[in-house]
Amino acid sequence: MLIKKKKSWEIAEREATPEGIYLNRRQIMAGAGAIGLAGALGTVNGAFAATEDDRLAINAPRNEAFQLDRELTPEDINLNYNNFYEFGSHKEIARDAQALEPRPWEITIDGMVDNPTKIDVDDLIGKMAVEERLYRHRCVEAWSMTVPWIGFPFAKLVEMAGPQSGAKYIRMETFNDPGVARGIKTQPWYPWPYVEGLTIEEAQNDLAFLVVGAYGKQVADQMGAPLRLAVPWKYGFKSIKSIVKFTFTDERPVSFWEQLQDKEYAFWANVNPEVPHPRWTQATERVLHTGDRVPTLKFNGYEEQVAGLYADMQDLGDLLYR
Ligand code: MTE
Repeated sequence: MLIKKKKSWEIAEREATPEGIYLNRRQIMAGAGAIGLAGALGTVNGAFAATEDDRLAINAPRNEAFQLDRELTPEDINLNYNNFYEFGSHKEIARDAQALEPRPWEITIDGMVDNPTKIDVDDLIGKMAVEERLYRHRCVEAWSMTVPWIGFPFAKLVEMAGPQSGAKYIRMETFNDPGVARGIKTQPWYPWPYVEGLTIEEAQNDLAFLVVGAYGKQVADQMGAPLRLAVPWKYGFKSIKSIVKFTFTDERPVSFWEQLQDKEYAFWANVNPEVPHPRWTQATERVLHTGDRVPTLKFNGYEEQVAGLYADMQDLGDLLYR
């Protein structure tokens, strides 16, 4: 498939759309050219209504330690503007994503751990105390939301797994079923499954959150049911959806987007307004539900909580993004 479009850096920002993406197999194989996330500013079509699904309510107390300085993004907007490439490389994947069957769902924890296990997602959730946290969510494409996530600290899963000495990273993997997600079938040039990684230290940071709900209910299919990550100091592509596996390892995982374009979507991917994406600025972001363009904050406003993780890195500005 070859989509002949103007490249997104060739056109004015106001004209950029999700389809501003330019993609072909040869470019990906060559690891060159404009591949990947769109820098897009598409409009929100309220196509999928919150009433159209059957998610169960989750009663989770709000953890007041995680507050926002902005109002929450309305649920309808969040339900209709999603990146989930397994269902297509555009934002309107909500309907197709309803093919996902988030239950039953088995999670595998393996690799360098004392307690490798395969566990049903609801049994896992049953072992954890879930809570609600209000988080910022900043996509590398320069749009942002604010979301009331429900979940549990990633640190609790690390504790349950019992990492062995020598383990440094956690590699996470999304389901890979072309029968469910037709984007996997129709876009065979992507390196499925979607993979992401964190250091164990990052996963143990207070902010790293494994999400099982949002807006008071089980998390919607298009938002990554039944279990996804939220690491709000990093660009959104780190927050992998619909996770099936956590592997503890001593090797740094190579993530999905990094395999495609390591100059644009690097492993660390911490939000940094001072380091532009090669094709657009990261100094500002568009708040999705107001359309306002506001300054982007270092570590997406979470500098106090996470800067210590990277204190040993020498050239902070550069290393954070590349
Ligand atoms: N996880 C999977 N499995 N597949 C994806 O395409 N997209 C990422 C991330 N997690 C993605 C994913 C990107 S680029 C972003 S910005 C966020 O999910 C979007 O999350 P949202 O749709 O809930 O806003």
